[in-house]
Amino acid sequence: MRHLALVLTGALALALTGCGGEESDPADLSVSGAYMPQPVSDMAAGFLTIANKGDRDAELTGVTSDLGEVTVHETVGQSMREVSSLDVPAHGTLVLESGGSHLMFDKLRRKPREGQTVSLTLRFTGHDPIEVELPVKPATYRPTSGN
Ligand code: CU
Repeated sequence: MRHLALVLTGALALALTGCGGEESDPADLSVSGAYMPQPVSDMAAGFLTIANKGDRDAELTGVTSDLGEVTVHETVGQSMREVSSLDVPAHGTLVLESGGSHLMFDKLRRKPREGQTVSLTLRFTGHDPIEVELPVKPATYRPTSGN
């Protein structure tokens, strides 16, 4: 369903852009809705949305944090697997959410608690790195909307 929405968003953006010719604007990325449920083991998950207002696709290629090792996971059926990159399409979003793609923190050096924040750096092709502060939420926290 989410993929369909992304495709439709892309088609709409294309229609609105019309025949304006080749744009060379770089990717224009922003991060919203970032949080980490308070970890209950030595692993933790991180969720956020990356929007690309630019005309060029970007790719999330790596994440680092002083909290521990971070990998990017996608969920396939009931299981999850590590991926080397995820697309942030031009005029689209990359949504990392519970039950879908997410950031996975492993070998935690400390156990962050609700009310604290965790810093991380997102690395991309086609865009400078972005520093993000993840507020730590209750373990059962769910965002109230997709935004
Ligand atoms: Cu995972």
